[in-house]
Amino acid sequence: MTGAPHIEVLYDEAEIARRVEAIAREIADSEPVSLLVVAVLKGSFIFAADLARAMHDVGLAPEMEFIHLSSYGAGTKSSGEVKILRDVESDVSGRDVILVDDILESGRTLAYAKDLLTDRGARSVKVAALLDKPHRRIAAINADYVGFTCPDRFVVGYGMDMGHKWRQLPFIGHVIVEEDDGRRPRDSKTGT
Ligand code: IMP
Ligand code: MG
Repeated sequence: MTGAPHIEVLYDEAEIARRVEAIAREIADSEPVSLLVVAVLKGSFIFAADLARAMHDVGLAPEMEFIHLSSYGAGTKSSGEVKILRDVESDVSGRDVILVDDILESGRTLAYAKDLLTDRGARSVKVAALLDKPHRRIAAINADYVGFTCPDRFVVGYGMDMGHKWRQLPFIGHVIVEEDDGRRPRDSKTGT
């Protein structure tokens, strides 16, 4: 019988915070004009929130926008089709835009979003991806800022989900399903 899944930590809170701060500093070094952060929902919401605060700490004052794109259903396989579920509200023309996403995998989602905002007249569109999975790339796109280059495994936590679960975890990990020991799901960091 397969049983209770638990999460093995890949990147802990301190490692993530260090990378987020480093990305904010790199962005500040580029001296952006009329900086607009566009967070790609839902997976980037925690990364985008932490990055916005890290940007503040290095003297930036980004405006925040949100775009909700979908290329995944409730499972773990990409359908290959990108849909706009919710668009940005601000005018992006003439602005330096940072597209913030959780994972750059096939690149289809971010290539679509980058083209969209470029066509609308953004001064520049750069990509900040918390995780890069370069082995799975299909679209011709790379991230300008990367948190971690990630092994080719399905990850959850820090905003990322599997079937709508695990987004609330403060760290990034992968799901391990073991023989049922009769206990509730736990994470290997706290042992709870
Ligand atoms: P792609 O680059 O267009 O293939 O889309 C990547 C998106 O798929 C990410 O932004 C996530 O929303 C989702 N995704 C890809 N790999 C994972 C994973 O390991 N865990 C959770 N979501 C994932
Ligand atoms: Mg996503």
